[in-house]
Formats: sequence, structure tokens, C-alpha cells
Amino acid sequence: MQPSTFRRAAVALAAATLAFAAQAQGYPAKPLTWIVPFAAGGPTDAMARDIAQRTSTQLGQQIIIENTPGAGGTIGSAKAARAPADGYTFLVGHMGYMGAAPSLYKKLAYDPVKDFDAVFRFPDTPLVLLVGKNSPYKTAEDLIAHGQQNPGKLNFGNAGVGSTSHLVAALFASRAKVEITSVSYKGAAPAMTDLVAGQVDAMFDQTNTALPQLAGERVRAVALTSDKAMPQFPGVPPLGQKVIPGFETATWYGIYAPKGTPREAIQKVYQAYTKALADKAWTDKMAAQGIRMLPDDQYTPDALAKHTATEVERWRKVAAEARISLD
Ligand code: MLT
Repeated sequence: MQPSTFRRAAVALAAATLAFAAQAQGYPAKPLTWIVPFAAGGPTDAMARDIAQRTSTQLGQQIIIENTPGAGGTIGSAKAARAPADGYTFLVGHMGYMGAAPSLYKKLAYDPVKDFDAVFRFPDTPLVLLVGKNSPYKTAEDLIAHGQQNPGKLNFGNAGVGSTSHLVAALFASRAKVEITSVSYKGAAPAMTDLVAGQVDAMFDQTNTALPQLAGERVRAVALTSDKAMPQFPGVPPLGQKVIPGFETATWYGIYAPKGTPREAIQKVYQAYTKALADKAWTDKMAAQGIRMLPDDQYTPDALAKHTATEVERWRKVAAEARISLD
């Protein structure tokens, strides 16, 4: 490179760095947008709104939730990957479209690792196997027995291919040797509406949104995906204890920024979150919803980045073994 070209490039880089540094003093200067790639009212939306509100208070700037549903969360994720990397647009990601999706979608419009910078991880949410309140199935064993005698007749609602409600149901079916029919919606909330209405036989939902439905006696819980029984679900056994030994899973979530987002912006948002997490009354409230708090070192940007890469690889194997497809 000619010295003059090199000099011009160095000057341009210095100017850009100074410009962001100046802007970083005032960052965030306007509201942030967090894209939730499911319909409002589902577990991802509920967690995102709660965490956004607390993080926003610490950040001193509004965080707007934008629901962009469709295709199991991959439409909203692709939109976030293409957003300007300026520190004002983020994705609320989770195990489905930021972990399993590369193994399910042949043409995925984004790469969970290459197209995003990890910002921070949420706590995890175990799931509950739910049936309608008038369902004839009293236990998971009943459901499995009916499914084995009537292949393809059991309808499981889910939030789209690659959603956790889809993935967990597919893993359940594969391990229980039951052929189910998956019915996809634009989120867990519309799927829940149809479960309550008796339009589908069952669904897996995260604990935070299952609890209010159970309190309203609109559905019944027959099993948990946690490793142990949970006090919030009295008399509901973990699947992994007896019915499907070792079956245990929880949805993990994280906030991601488009690749190339300035580090200072990522650090400021992450630090606002960790300040919010210091409020034990809030974390106790999340725990009361069955949400599983993690050790602090698992919430960091680097920890989420490593976890995402590990999960993308893990799901290649899991999806192949369970023959999970774009059904
Ligand atoms: C899922 O099933 O993956 C999502 O949690 C659905 C939702 O949050 O609406």
C-alpha cells in the first residue's frame, strides 16, 4: 500500500473511532429496539419484555420490543442480522433459531455465529407438557400409549419449525417412539389459544407462560422437562425421571447484536443488565415462574458467544439422531 493511501486509511479509521468514541459518551442517545421473532404473549416475548424493562431502567434509555413473527423465529432473526450495526437494534435469540435452525433450514438467511455479536444471556426456562383441561390423557404415559396405538393422530401445537415447542415435541416423539403431527403457529401464544380451545391435543410451553394458564385451569400439566420436580407444579413429574429416562431440556435465550456493533455499546447494554440482575426481588420473581437463574459468569457476552457455537454443533447431532425436519 502506498504511504499516502495508508495514511489516508489510518486517518479515516482514526476519525471513525473518534466519532464513535464521542457518540459512545452519549450512547444510547435514542431508544433501542429488541426484535422478538414470535407473536406477543408467548414465553420469549414475556421474558424479553420483563428483562427489557429492567435493563432499560439501568441503561437510562427506552427499549422497544418489536414482534416480527414467522418461520420459527428465523424471519425476525434474518431481519436483525441485516440491521445497522450501530448499537440500536438487537435480537432476542433462543435455542431454536440461534441453535438448532442451521440443522433444520437448508437455506437459512443468517448464520447465528458469523452474523451476530453476543451481548448477554438470559436465565433458562424449563418446559411443561400441557394438554387441554378436558383432555382424556391424565399422564404422559397415557399420551404416549395413545400415540403409539394411533400413529400421527396426536396433534402437538408449536411456534413454528425450529421453535423450542417444535424441537422438544420432536425429541419427545423420537424418544417415546410416537409419531405425532406438528401444528405450527406464529408463536406459543396462538398455539396456546388452540390448545385451550381443544384444537390441538398437547404442546410443550415454557414454565413462565404455562403457569398462568394452569392457574386459570384452562390446561393441565402432565410432565416437566426439568431434571427435578418443581414446587410450582405440584404432582407433575419430570419426564426424565421415569417415562423417558434422562430426558431433560430447557430453553436458553440471549440478546444478540448485528456483527460489527461497537464493543462499547455491547458492554453498556450488558452492564445495565447485570445491574438489573442484582435486584434479588426481581430474580426471586423470575424463579417463582420456574425460570432457572444461572451463575453470573454464564451471562457474559463471551459466555453467550461460546454457548451459541457449542449449541449449533450440538443440534447438528441431535437433529440428525431424532430425525427432526422441516415438518
Ligand atoms: C418457542 O416455542 O420456541 C417460543 O418460545 C415460542 C414463543 O416464545 O412464542
